[in-house]
Amino acid sequence: MNKIKPVDEEIVLDRSKYIESQTDTKGIITQCNDYFAEISGYSREELIGQPHNIVRHPDMPRVIFKLLWDRIKAGKNILAVIKNMAKDGRYYWVFTHFETMRDINTKEIIGYKAYRKATSKHITEVLLPLYKKLVEIESKDGIDASKKYLDDFLSKKGEHITIDNLMEEIHRFY
Ligand SMILES: Cc1cc2nc3c(=O)[nH]c(=O)nc-3n(C[C@H](O)[C@H](O)[C@H](O)COP(=O)(O)O)c2cc1C
Repeated sequence: MNKIKPVDEEIVLDRSKYIESQTDTKGIITQCNDYFAEISGYSREELIGQPHNIVRHPDMPRVIFKLLWDRIKAGKNILAVIKNMAKDGRYYWVFTHFETMRDINTKEIIGYKAYRKATSKHITEVLLPLYKKLVEIESKDGIDASKKYLDDFLSKKGEHITIDNLMEEIHRFY
């Protein structure tokens, strides 16, 4: 986990730019674009070869990453809104689309890609209380309890609503 102390200051993203990265199957960064380096405050050399949790923010619930990994390891894509932490401790919220990369011949999973763009204030306002609650539950009762809270939260929204339905819905709505 990241040892940097979080600073309560948001980095405002350029709405026309994407933050892109690729990892191997273990989540080690293999590629990234210049905008990722610019926003995170790390050079591309510092990023490549590091685990992607280099930008993990302590306000992010573990259950979101568990869902993310379960999904991408199964070869499926997922959308997630993530709060990341830059090298100087400041934060930035990103709407992220995760994709699986496969070997063209064997079709085996060889890594993952993530494309991120700016979110709206509304999205983070909707998700902030949910994430806060999940982190709180995790610290007291563990990840299974927070998964249950999240499942209940989603089922109250409607039948068959998944986390990415929720994120897509709030993204489209605002
Ligand atoms: C392609 C890809 C991109 C990722 N991007 C991020 C990211 O931007 N921020 C983040 O916190 N975790 C990201 N992750 C998830 C991390 O690998 C990791 O699961 C997460 O930071 C939780 O770390 P921890 O288990 O050490 O707490 C990404 C994973 C993949 C495969």
